[in-house]
Amino acid sequence: MADELSILGLAGKTALVTGGGAGIGRATAELFGRAGMRVAVAEIDAARAADARAALVAANVDSLVVEADVRRADEVARLFGEVDGRFGRLDVLVNNVGDYLGYKKPFEESNETEWNELYAVNLLHMFHVTKAAIPLLRRGGGGAIVNLSTIEAFRGIPHTVAYAAFKAAITGFTQSLAVELGADNIRVNAVAPETTNSAQIVATPRVPPENRDYVKRWFPIGRFGEGADSAGAALFLASDSLSGWVTGSTILVDGGALAAGAWMRLPDGRNFTHLPIIVADGYTPRPGA
Ligand SMILES: NC(=O)c1ccc[n+]([C@@H]2O[C@H](COP(=O)([O-])OP(=O)(O)OC[C@H]3O[C@@H](n4cnc5c(N)ncnc54)[C@H](O)[C@@H]3O)[C@@H](O)[C@H]2O)c1
Repeated sequence: MADELSILGLAGKTALVTGGGAGIGRATAELFGRAGMRVAVAEIDAARAADARAALVAANVDSLVVEADVRRADEVARLFGEVDGRFGRLDVLVNNVGDYLGYKKPFEESNETEWNELYAVNLLHMFHVTKAAIPLLRRGGGGAIVNLSTIEAFRGIPHTVAYAAFKAAITGFTQSLAVELGADNIRVNAVAPETTNSAQIVATPRVPPENRDYVKRWFPIGRFGEGADSAGAALFLASDSLSGWVTGSTILVDGGALAAGAWMRLPDGRNFTHLPIIVADGYTPRPGA
């Protein structure tokens, strides 16, 4: 175990994970703790904050869980005051908060109130939190910023257009900030998950049992994501030892979905179609057709 941890080079370093009370953020906070890091969590939900606090303490992680709304500049200032007061440094920031807020409707039926809500929870908080984090990261000699994006930033998703637009903006934020901060030894990268079981996305239970086999055909790696999948990518990007020359990049944590495009397995488990509701792909010649 000691050898495995020294490969990461993260033991004793300090991380802040926003939205670390549930889902991908919670899995990331716990994995960072297992890597020997000191972990701060910002979480808006009191019950989730209490649950994360108890879990990190039980795992003997040197931790700080702050109830805060990272969309608000004043709350972010209070959060960083607490992190600095407790740990005196910051090495890794994970901007994990993000939510489609349940809005699934044609773009022409969406409205400005919804756009502003989606902006605040998917992009604005990254600006507030990152701006507050940079001086602390710089003070410690550099570090890593990891932004949670989505696979939907790299393909079209109908009925979730504004969410996808703000997530696509994270790519620009990540790339440009990486260029700006390279000389400060601060690396900036992103993680883009496909559908991942979390508090927000209860993917597996929503698929009727009789259709679960579809999931195996849909993803080249035949399952939904779990929080630990994205947490693993964040851990890699947090580690200067492993990803010290990686900046401005996005890791797709998608079970191969983007590479597959529309292609998926036929029910025989061997052949493939890009016309998934029928048994042919319209491209491969079929005898007699
Ligand atoms: N789960 C997926 O399928 C999926 C897919 C692609 C991208 N993502 C992205 O991954 C990230 C994490 O998603 P998740 O599914 O784990 O989310 P989640 O909703 O399960 O967990 C997010 C946590 O953030 C907290 N939070 C929300 N708003 C906050 C705020 N303003 N301040 C502080 N805390 C706040 C929530 O209370 C919750 O505990 C998001 O950016 C999301 O867009 C998730």
